[in-house]
Amino acid sequence: MGTLDGKVAIVSGSGRGIGREIALKLAAEGARVVVNDLDPEPAKQTLAAIEAAGGQAVSCVGSVTEEGFAERFVQTAVDEFGGLDIIVNNAGYTWDSVIQKMTDEQWDAILDVHLKAPFRILRAAQPVIAAAAKRAKEAGEPVPCRKVVNISSLAGTGGNAGQANYSSGKAGIIGLTKAMSKEWGRYNVTVNAVAFGLIKTRLTEAPAGTGGTIDVAGKEIKVGVNPNLLAAMEQMVPLGRGGTPEEAAGAVYLFCIPESDYVSGQTLVCGGGFNI
Ligand SMILES: NC(=O)c1ccc[n+]([C@@H]2O[C@H](COP(=O)([O-])OP(=O)(O)OC[C@H]3O[C@@H](n4cnc5c(N)ncnc54)[C@H](O)[C@@H]3O)[C@@H](O)[C@H]2O)c1
Repeated sequence: MGTLDGKVAIVSGSGRGIGREIALKLAAEGARVVVNDLDPEPAKQTLAAIEAAGGQAVSCVGSVTEEGFAERFVQTAVDEFGGLDIIVNNAGYTWDSVIQKMTDEQWDAILDVHLKAPFRILRAAQPVIAAAAKRAKEAGEPVPCRKVVNISSLAGTGGNAGQANYSSGKAGIIGLTKAMSKEWGRYNVTVNAVAFGLIKTRLTEAPAGTGGTIDVAGKEIKVGVNPNLLAAMEQMVPLGRGGTPEEAAGAVYLFCIPESDYVSGQTLVCGGGFNI
């Protein structure tokens, strides 16, 4: 018996890092999961890991920023697993510059992936969620609590130099979270955000300026944190270290379980005690 038996979850950007661990955790607790990633191979690997552990998943490969992706993502959950109970908006990357060097393309790309894509996914999910709530009410049954968890960052709660685009997107997702918690209370959906501090993934591990790049739609984008800065950041964390992707997934899981059914519109900081 898992805590999430019978639930259906969609997790964007679950081929690597934090998203992968969220997908594995939800599946380990009994949820059937739609895995998504921009890159097909990591998505395949997450799927295989879930199945190897005895869980159920399907993949829906593609960029969350593609036209029509949101509808396809939601429809995959409905077609393959018959519903939608948990939405985790996690996909994203960073593309840093000081403001005087930041292009419109850089600004738009980061706002698209961190804010517009979650908005579109929630918009696409609304008819499914509203219809499910209506069916339960008409049958005289309690409407099950559904869950949305949006991923933010301390860059969103406190701002970060060199990340005007990312900080704006990650602050924006908190606004979207609060608005939707008010709009979707009527469907018994809780909408919360988790703002991560330093979590050790390729976003933070790859040394910036020395070849730490990711490929987004054929464009090589530098990610990562300079190793000296990384060490300094770790020293500022009260727990004395960056978090693991598993620990990050644990914070998201807290908003997916029945014990958090009366918590909505909140932003939980997962940063080892570090907060800004
Ligand atoms: N690692 C940290 O310290 C940290 C801190 C704060 C917030 N975050 C946030 O956590 C989330 C996950 O980051 P991570 O550290 O696990 O990074 P990661 O690079 O390890 O994993 C992110 C995954 O998202 C995928 N992805 C990126 N753009 C996508 C798109 N357009 N469509 C579909 N998939 C896409 C990537 O291919 C990758 O597999 C992001 O939203 C990130 O901003 C991370």
